[in-house]
Amino acid sequence: MLRIFAAMTTRILFVCLGNICRSPAAEGIMRRLAEREGAAGLLEIDSAGTYGGHRGELPDPRMRSAAARRGLALTHRSRRIAEEDFDRFDRIVVMDDMNYEAVHRLAPSREAAGKICRMTEFCRRHPDRTCVPDPYYEGHEGFERVLDLLEDGCEGLLDSLKEEGRL
Ligand code: 4NP
Repeated sequence: MLRIFAAMTTRILFVCLGNICRSPAAEGIMRRLAEREGAAGLLEIDSAGTYGGHRGELPDPRMRSAAARRGLALTHRSRRIAEEDFDRFDRIVVMDDMNYEAVHRLAPSREAAGKICRMTEFCRRHPDRTCVPDPYYEGHEGFERVLDLLEDGCEGLLDSLKEEGRL
């Protein structure tokens, strides 16, 4: 018997507070990884913030420079997460406890809340980390630390999607 499996798109939303530092960087890193793995067509990747005060802005210039040094151009425009995102996305990946609680409060159902996970769950080179810390009030090293954690987490997330047979 010939079985034809339809390729299924997995939709991932990264969430932080302002959607100008951590989550747009995660989006860029994940997109590049997916392209390298030839899996870009199977993933839809986006990012959003729980706070809407930076709506429409490009990522913070400090994050754009740090990402550019790693060969990544970040062009996402900030937006606030909305309840409809729970219908659109399969996974909602948050950076810290504050994001987790804010996104959880927005979840319209228990099933929707089950889509929320933490970026650090997928970090294998930083097993002691429980959050990707907010770099906004930090210096240059804070942004580098965030990118190190996000690269680790995105690699782990991609592997977990492979293990689930989604890629
Ligand atoms: P993000 O960083 O949540 O990683 O985008 C922040 C951006 C803006 C602010 C705080 C954190 N803010 O207070 O405006």
